[in-house]
Amino acid sequence: MSDPEKHLLLVEDEAPLREAVAEQLTDHGYQVEQAGSGEEAIERLADFAFDIIVTDLRLPGIDGSAVVETAVERYPHIIAIVVTGYGTVKDAVDAIKHGAWDFVSKPFQIDELLHVLDSALEQRRLKSENAYLRAQLEERYRFEGIVGKSRAMARLFQLLETVASTNSTILITGETGAGKEVVARAIHHNSPRRMHRFVALNCSAIPETLLEAELFGHVRGAFTGAVGNRQGRLEQAHKGTLFLDEVGTMSTALQMKLLRVLQEREFERIGDSHSVKVDVRVIAATNSDLARMVAEGQFREDLFYRLNVIPVQVPPLRDRKEDIPLLVAHFVDKFRADAGTSPVTVSQSAMRRLMSFRWPGNVRQLENAIERAVAFAGNRSQLDESDLPSDVQQAEEPALSASLALPEEGLDLDQFIARIERDLIQRSLERTNGNKGKAAKLLNVKRTTLVEKIKRLEKES
Ligand SMILES: Nc1ncnc2c1ncn2[C@@H]1O[C@H](COP(=O)(O)OP(=O)(O)OP(=O)(O)O)[C@@H](O)[C@H]1O
Ligand SMILES: [Mg+2]
Repeated sequence: MSDPEKHLLLVEDEAPLREAVAEQLTDHGYQVEQAGSGEEAIERLADFAFDIIVTDLRLPGIDGSAVVETAVERYPHIIAIVVTGYGTVKDAVDAIKHGAWDFVSKPFQIDELLHVLDSALEQRRLKSENAYLRAQLEERYRFEGIVGKSRAMARLFQLLETVASTNSTILITGETGAGKEVVARAIHHNSPRRMHRFVALNCSAIPETLLEAELFGHVRGAFTGAVGNRQGRLEQAHKGTLFLDEVGTMSTALQMKLLRVLQEREFERIGDSHSVKVDVRVIAATNSDLARMVAEGQFREDLFYRLNVIPVQVPPLRDRKEDIPLLVAHFVDKFRADAGTSPVTVSQSAMRRLMSFRWPGNVRQLENAIERAVAFAGNRSQLDESDLPSDVQQAEEPALSASLALPEEGLDLDQFIARIERDLIQRSLERTNGNKGKAAKLLNVKRTTLVEKIKRLEKES
């Protein structure tokens, strides 16, 4: 046992037995305190957080199970072991119901007690280890569905973590396909509202006249075609989150009505005169520049400020290229699983194209490109450049010289040149499908020279 801090309280009214057991436990590395009665035990527990309590069940005055109950109530992680005097298992079972971990019956060998203690400690250790692992997993997937490790995304995760627990209205801005909706969902799922609904309404996908009814609901006969009473999205989102996508496309009349909901948290269904109270958190998203729309009189300034309590910007993919390999792996896995096929890797040259492309459609466009590439690759085990959409294939790789800036702190010339050599050799081999003769021609060296270089590089890496 390597754990030095095993503080044990031993409760036993028979002094000679208590002292003998205490001595043996001490010999086995336990820090033992003794109590001669239940009352004394409870007093000791009041001012010290023991790891373990071993108590006789039958004690004069306060009995062992009451001691266990007190101990466990105060220290949920304490290990309580009871000692039964009469071989009556029933009392022991009772004590376990009250929180004891295990029991030993008198008379017992010290080894028996040590064994019970050992396994209890081990189990407790595993238990807290599992809890720790689970907490870690939750931590890792805190923003489940949002893949990213770039500095920009790490900053975004941090912000999300802070804002998720609040009730504040959030305005998410970002280019098309950048992940505004995944961010909105992540906020909801990490908020105290997660048990209730996340209701999404795309303001640009529905004609203006229907949008109002969609949002507020209506009563029967409110307008032509309103055959029954209908709940709007606002009501559906009660206690949950309402996600208003493309909020910039809303008419000014509707903007006015939305403003009122945000201010008063109540509204009327269309055709109804009495108002409905709602408790919703609103998250809005837009890919247009709302501030500019405000300046140009196309969006209500007051509504803009109501929505923009917490601004969250999702950066475009081209500004966080280091996320691309991660996203590619994520989508390859996803579509490979969907298709039941097996491309497992992505060639370096394909990855370079993927990283050079500007991705005007952001993550959605990348996702589509990978879906397509996986389908094209069929049973091949590698995704190649030729599997990519043609505009991606044509993406200019950044000129090598772009990475040739001499850093402030200087560099190791030999190492740097070796890296460039390795890179160019790799590219030549990829372009020629591994044909060393053709690759040597591309690099204008003899085939034997190339083979030698490859051997040397392989040895070095
Ligand atoms: N960081 C990310 N990790 C994993 N998947 C992502 C990420 N960002 C976006 N996606 C995926 O990309 C697609 C587009 O994301 P989303 O719908 O959230 O974009 P959007 O910003 O709302 O786009 P639009 O403006 O067109 O509505 C979705 O399939 C989403 O799952
Ligand atoms: Mg969207």
